[in-house]
Amino acid sequence: MQYSMFCSSTCSTSLWLIFTKTMASSSSSLVFFVVAYLLVVFLGSSNAQLSTTFYNTSCPNLFSTVKSVVQSAINKETRMGASLLRLFFHDCFVNGCDGSVLLDDTSNFTGEKTAAPNNGSLRGFDVIDQIKTAVEKACPGVVSCADIIAITARDSVVIAGGPTWSVKLGRRDATTASRTAANNNIPPPTASLSALITSFQNQGLSTTDMVALSGAHTIGQARCTTFRTRIYNESTIDASFAQSRQSNCPNATNSGDDNLAPLDVKTPNRFDNGYYTNLVNQKGLLHSDQQLFSGGSTNALVQTYSTKPSQFNSDFVTAMINMGDIKPLTGSNGEIRKNCRKTN
Ligand code: HEM
Ligand SMILES: *[C@@H]1O[C@H](CO)[C@@H](O)[C@H](O)[C@H]1NC(C)=O
Ligand SMILES: *[C@@H]1O[C@H](CO)[C@@H](O)[C@H](O)[C@H]1NC(C)=O
Ligand SMILES: *[C@@H]1O[C@H](CO)[C@@H](O)[C@H](O)[C@H]1NC(C)=O
Ligand SMILES: *[C@@H]1O[C@H](CO)[C@@H](O)[C@H](O)[C@H]1NC(C)=O
Ligand SMILES: *[C@@H]1O[C@H](CO)[C@@H](O)[C@H](O)[C@H]1NC(C)=O
Repeated sequence: MQYSMFCSSTCSTSLWLIFTKTMASSSSSLVFFVVAYLLVVFLGSSNAQLSTTFYNTSCPNLFSTVKSVVQSAINKETRMGASLLRLFFHDCFVNGCDGSVLLDDTSNFTGEKTAAPNNGSLRGFDVIDQIKTAVEKACPGVVSCADIIAITARDSVVIAGGPTWSVKLGRRDATTASRTAANNNIPPPTASLSALITSFQNQGLSTTDMVALSGAHTIGQARCTTFRTRIYNESTIDASFAQSRQSNCPNATNSGDDNLAPLDVKTPNRFDNGYYTNLVNQKGLLHSDQQLFSGGSTNALVQTYSTKPSQFNSDFVTAMINMGDIKPLTGSNGEIRKNCRKTN
């Protein structure tokens, strides 16, 4: 039938019934187009709609199942919370929050794990596997890997002492991944303020979202290779901070590249607003960090967050929810992967 184009595989059965019933009871082409239009509008918006109660009946113990694995992973290694939080960012910025970052390479595509921002840097894949195994045991074939990343990011923030929020759910998993998109979309630590603003804008995120999300660098670590130029060759850095970072990050390229330093010099494992205090004191570790407080349009917001932790917390939560809304696969798009590393 010609009008089947209005009802692709995403169409729910009940809507289809309403639609065909209306069709049977009227031959008016006006009614046809009005109904078809409403159907498209309704489906379009409901498809884009994530919900905090998405798994309430299909997987009632989801949150406690995820949290207990995250908690024990962080008990084993504090840094893991930071690594899991970063996974969410690197998933969402590459064709939406669709679990694509978790896919291993196949003969059909080169995955995102070896993209420049991820290779030898992104961590936590084993923990996601453990969570997925636990969740599959509790509710087989129901919960997406994309949603697991989203819940895991929230739990990691909470465990590190940060704010909590209700995570929107209902994302489905991608069946493909793109190293090229990961290289293009995830900003590098050499980025200027305007490049950072543009990068987030390209994802539909505001400059406020960008500044607030950058506060994630209140936990976790970075490799010498990502901040070497800054600590040896920039003037917008506190001299004693630079000197202390130089002690474990030699100037010579290819020497000590993987040596780690905390992103937040003050409270490296605590999710607080210390990141912004560091920036105000010219103690941002990455060039991109310090760009947020180098005399540009974001100076005032950094200053505000450095003195108002509650405003930072609330803007961070808003921004995490906004980031989680980036291009989700819903309805019957994508799939619920059985194994987060491969398509079904
Ligand atoms: C604004 C642009 C951003 C840039 C340029 C950037 C860059 C980086 C870099 C270079 C590292 C160190 C990686 C390494 O040396 O292995 C890092 C670590 C990290 N990033 Fe970002 N990032 C940005 C935004 C974000 C956002 C939005 C989040 C999360 C909401 C985030 C969370 C993290 C975390 C938690 C770590 C530490 C990870 C760990 O210890 O394993 N970053 N980031
Ligand atoms: C869904 O589950 C959450 C967490 O278990 C609970 O707080 C909430 O009240 C539930 N909501 C509905 C509508 O059932
Ligand atoms: C590659 O794609 C083809 C066609 O979609 C599919 O049949 C095959 O299973 C895929 N191979 C892998 C390794 O995923
Ligand atoms: C990823 O890192 C490994 C080990 O450091 C390296 O051998 C490999 O060439 C890198 N891959 C890419 C695509 O850069
Ligand atoms: C250091 O900074 C100067 C001036 O900003 C620049 O010309 C030079 O290329 C930089 N050197 C390195 C190794 O980044
Ligand atoms: C670090 O290395 C760069 C380039 O190799 C050089 O220009 C700079 O003078 C060095 N800085 C220090 C403090 O040694």
